[in-house]
Order: sequence, then C-alpha cells, then structure tokens
Amino acid sequence: PQHFLRDDDLTHAQQADVLRLAIELKAARGLADPVARHPRRPLDGPRTAALLFDKPSTRTRLSFSVGVAELGGFPLVIDASTSQLGRGEPVADTARVLSRQVALITWRTFAQADLEAMAAASSVPVVNALTDLLHPCQILADLQTVAEHRPGGVDGLPGTVFAYVGDGNNNMANSYLLGGAVAGMHVVVGTPETHLPDPGVLEDARRAAQATGGSVTVVHDAAQAVAGADVVATDTWVSMGQESEAASRETPFVPFSVTPHLMAGAKPGAGVLHCLPAYRGKEVDASYLDGPGSWVWDEAENRLHAQKALLVALLEARETA
Ligand code: CP
Ligand code: NVA
Repeated sequence: PQHFLRDDDLTHAQQADVLRLAIELKAARGLADPVARHPRRPLDGPRTAALLFDKPSTRTRLSFSVGVAELGGFPLVIDASTSQLGRGEPVADTARVLSRQVALITWRTFAQADLEAMAAASSVPVVNALTDLLHPCQILADLQTVAEHRPGGVDGLPGTVFAYVGDGNNNMANSYLLGGAVAGMHVVVGTPETHLPDPGVLEDARRAAQATGGSVTVVHDAAQAVAGADVVATDTWVSMGQESEAASRETPFVPFSVTPHLMAGAKPGAGVLHCLPAYRGKEVDASYLDGPGSWVWDEAENRLHAQKALLVALLEARETA
C-alpha cells in the first residue's frame, strides 16, 4: 500500500505479514548485538519522519518517535497548533512542503477527509495516527497482542471471537470492526442503540469479513456481546474532542463497563484490551489493568513493534515499486 489511512488499506495477507514482522522485530530488540537489535533500517541516512499532532498523545508520539529512530531515521514531532496548519494553511500545501523534505508523514487529527487530503497531495507515505473515524495503528498493536497471548499466533487470529463494548460510535469501535474483519475475526460490538458505528465503515467491514471468513455484528446488550468471547476490548466513553459532553456520555454506557461480572460470560481465560488512557471504574475495572496477567501493557508496548513493521512495509514497498 502507498498510505495507511484505514485498517483495510492492508489486505489480509499484508496485515498478517506486518504482524509477523512486528513479532520478529520485538524479539530482535532483546539481542545483545546492537546491529542485530535493529535489523531493518529503511530510514537510514537519517531520513526524517514528520509526526503531526492536532490532539494530545502519549503512546502514539512515543512509539512513532522511538520506532522511527530505531529504523535509522529522525523523528520530527510537530505540534500542529504551533504550526501554520493550525492557523489555516491548506492541508495540501502542507503536504507538498513536507514531502519535499521528509520520507514519511504521520498525522493525528479530527477529520478523516483531511487525512485523505494530506495523502492525496503527498509524494511520501501518510499514516493515520488517529482520526475521529479510525485508529488503525492501534488495531495492529492489538492484533499483535492477541496473537501473542492466544494459541496459534498470527495464524490463530482468523476465527477468534473479539468483543468490543462501550462507545460504538468512536474510532476504536470502527477500527476494530474494519481491522478485525480484515484479520478474519468474528467482531461483535456491544453498544447502546444511540451510539452506532459509522455505517460506511460497517458496510466495508462486512465486505472484508466476507472475504476472510470473519463476521461483524452489532448488538445492544453487553452480556450478549461478550458471550463466548476470546477477547474483550473497551475504550473511554469520552473521546478527545468530546470533553464538553462528558456528563451526558456516562449513563448510557454504564451497562457496558468491563467488570468481573460481565467477563464471567466470556470464554474462560479471555483477555481484556484497552488502548489507553483508561478510566478505572468507568469503562473498565482496575483489575484488568493492574492485576496479574493484564494484556494492556503488552498492548501499549506493541504500538512500537507493530508500527515499526508497518513503516518497513510502507517504505520498502516504495523502494521496490
Ligand atoms: N492509545 C493511544 O493512541 O494513546 P495516545 O493517545 O497516548 O497516543
Ligand atoms: N477513542 C479515544 C482513543 C484514544 C487513544 C479518543 O479518540 O480519544
């Protein structure tokens, strides 16, 4: 693929290759020999990656910065509010200027359409670092985490029953549907009828699932959503940009909180994922973060490995194109 703007910009086979490489790069990072530790260096030079942020970030900024450095490059973090983009310089002009000097652009912003406009005017790969619609890099890290914790590794992803409960109308819900369908999983979203996933994404996810043998389902009962699940994921009830609605964004989601009572209906040994930041006692019980066997810290670490693998795939595809 030229860019990674949506989860289905990778085919099933490409996604599996990225996940396998992510697992390899993670293992290599533990080696004593400094050259063997970072075996892929498509940004050697160093070539620069522009990492643009219109919203706050801890994990995404960290993992792209560390990852770009480990691929031999220089990570240039740009706070959009202090750049001309924040004063209204056109997205396309920004893309033209950046792509004459950098090898890669990542952007965390609001509208998916703006990200698409960036990609359309860029001559270098553009990566979605979260929009209001999708968070595809997070899903790669989550799939890696599931592959590491469940039998069969990456080959075990197809057929996995993956439940997401909480706000069905946010970037995580949409990306679980789309990326999970590409992986061949059975994705079930449990959310109030008032907070449905994006209809276009749902349709694309259905189409992807048909090709991979997976499925996508939306239900409005939390117990029904997690029944028989191998993995249960959730996310904040108040996404970035929704802070002023925080008070009204609690009551509808309370029945979808990931508690030991809810998890009793999942498969024995089912893991809990949360992209973080988490709100303990709201969408998730503290035990799934702080207890032994939590998957969440592996999930956060895997942002690094999954994104390095993605960047290798994007940058090496260009070289051979
Ligand atoms: N999960 C995630 O994207 O975290 P940040 O907002 O800290 O980047
Ligand atoms: N849905 C959350 C994800 C944070 C990583 C948000 O958009 O704020």
